[in-house]
Amino acid sequence: MFSPHGPSLRELCVQALSSVERGYDLLAPKFDHTPFRTPESILGATVEALSALGPFDRGLDVCCGTGAGMLVLRPLCQGQITGVDFSAGMLAQARTAHPDATWVRADARALPFAEDFDLAVTFGALGHFLPTERPALFNGLYRALRPGGLLAFPIGAPPSRLSISHWTVLGFDLAMRVRNAVWRPPFVMYYRTSPLPAVHDDLSDAGFSVRAVPLTALGRHRDGSPRCELVLARKPADR
Ligand SMILES: C[S@@+](CC[C@H](N)C(=O)[O-])C[C@H]1O[C@@H](n2cnc3c(N)ncnc32)[C@H](O)[C@@H]1O
Repeated sequence: MFSPHGPSLRELCVQALSSVERGYDLLAPKFDHTPFRTPESILGATVEALSALGPFDRGLDVCCGTGAGMLVLRPLCQGQITGVDFSAGMLAQARTAHPDATWVRADARALPFAEDFDLAVTFGALGHFLPTERPALFNGLYRALRPGGLLAFPIGAPPSRLSISHWTVLGFDLAMRVRNAVWRPPFVMYYRTSPLPAVHDDLSDAGFSVRAVPLTALGRHRDGSPRCELVLARKPADR
């Protein structure tokens, strides 16, 4: 699962017993050698799906980590591209990898932007937000976008109950619940708390008009349903 350049088991345990922010600070130098960094296949499929809807002017990547989302924003955006994250360690890596972008340290639950962006994306971070925190996240994203702006992010379809993946994510979430019941500070990361229907409802409540398109390049489950969809949430142009 991890390359030889990735974190050791001990480093991963120390990270998992820290807060989310501190955990990512510790992991940052080795993050790109873990499976937690969004893979090129997902970034590429996202670019392909968004190409037909662009070009865009200014772009924002929320929970940018070491900057994977820049590979999506750069080909699609003609204006400035910005990443926001609350981990100073992750931002330091991102700044080194993409010195031409703008980097902002902020909590995604209180985004410090107002009508600044035409496209916003986020990858691999939804599980860090409890369902009760999603309204703050989505309201901030709505505020950050210009009228007519687009929020886009991939979301995995739940695997069949008969698959190994189903039991793996179930086991992971259970382990995190036990960890968070007995240890402080909490490390919020759950795979099963952000199903598409709930996310759809929260985006609609924030004011977005929402649809999802299949990212067919990422494959299908045995029943033919897509493994991954791209959520497209549009801020109305006429407010
Ligand atoms: C799994 S990493 C994903 C990084 C990158 N988007 C990628 O796909 O490779 C999750 C990132 O979300 C950030 N994060 C989690 N909760 C956050 C919050 N409340 N505000 C800002 N950043 C947050 C973490 O610091 C970390 O960099």
